[in-house]
Amino acid sequence: MEWNEIRQRARERLQGYCRVCPQCDGRACAGEVPGFGGVGTGSSFRANYEALAQWKLNLRTVHGARDADPALQLFGCKLATPILGAPIAGAQTNLGGVMSDAELTAALLEGCSLAGTMGMAGHVGEIALEEIKRQSGRGIMIFKPLEQEKIIAWGRKVAEGGAVAFGIDIDGAGLINMRLLGVHVEPKTPAQLKELVEDIPLPFILKGIMTPDEAELAVEAGAAAIVVSNHGGRVLDHTPGVAQVLPAIARRVKGKITILADGAVRTGVDVLKMLALGADAVLVGRPLIVAAVGGGAAGVKLHLERMTGELIQAMIMTGCKTLEDIGPRLLYREEI
Ligand SMILES: Cc1cc2nc3c(=O)[nH]c(=O)nc-3n(C[C@H](O)[C@H](O)[C@H](O)COP(=O)(O)O)c2cc1C
Repeated sequence: MEWNEIRQRARERLQGYCRVCPQCDGRACAGEVPGFGGVGTGSSFRANYEALAQWKLNLRTVHGARDADPALQLFGCKLATPILGAPIAGAQTNLGGVMSDAELTAALLEGCSLAGTMGMAGHVGEIALEEIKRQSGRGIMIFKPLEQEKIIAWGRKVAEGGAVAFGIDIDGAGLINMRLLGVHVEPKTPAQLKELVEDIPLPFILKGIMTPDEAELAVEAGAAAIVVSNHGGRVLDHTPGVAQVLPAIARRVKGKITILADGAVRTGVDVLKMLALGADAVLVGRPLIVAAVGGGAAGVKLHLERMTGELIQAMIMTGCKTLEDIGPRLLYREEI
């Protein structure tokens, strides 16, 4: 299956929900939540795209990095690439039901496994659990910030199912989709976070951190990882882009907690930029939904492999043999 065929098929199937634009930057779909867009004016989604585009890389070719290996260890798993599938739910409202949550989650998690990496499942209950089991535990569940008892009960259930990690998208406390469904979501205090970390027997991920102070609170609570994310611009209008806030967050907590980041990561070069800015690995959202709708698990695998190929090429062109070689020195800063 060719990449252009996958995109064309997705464009036909997603009419009215996603236009599968040449640049997935949040312009055409501004305000379309539910849907694929960013909330309100769509500025937070656009900020993700623009913030990444503003960073430039130092091209270096006087070195011995003839080949590059983007493999890493994450939550005790060996991954072939630092690109993971972001959690996606709400197929009925966001994709017009062209795939069910079960079909979408299966395509995303299976495609990620086939590409040697790992996917996250969104708030889809038993569907997530079944799919993670089908992937022999190679998967992560990201639950909504519901009442404590419900999160803990699901965390334990997912641990029994063999998943490698569990987390909440704490920024989901502001989701329009949840309010429309009448689901109670809430922000969490530091003490509540500590309780979740202590009561759930899996590495705990806090998705939706955008400031250094909250990153530090995640460390203090004992979380295994944060996802620096504004939920793809879907929960609050007028936030900065993730690539803008990531350096300050990394300065504060790098090495104390695993740092994942997402938001308009579209190419392997974007991945390299996020890693140079301080992320240990990245998540990809919308492009993998398009790949799943247009080509199922095979489409997701193809897209992840394309991005990984671009990442390897960009690593060679910046003098990085392994992910450990990637750091702020890759980022261009004007010297006058
Ligand atoms: C249609 C749609 C559904 C999403 N569902 C969830 C979800 O259930 N849980 C979650 O944590 N994030 C969810 N997200 C956010 C993604 O996990 C991710 O943070 C974001 O999409 C990354 O930005 P990108 O799409 O520009 O790559 C969703 C995003 C979209 C577009």
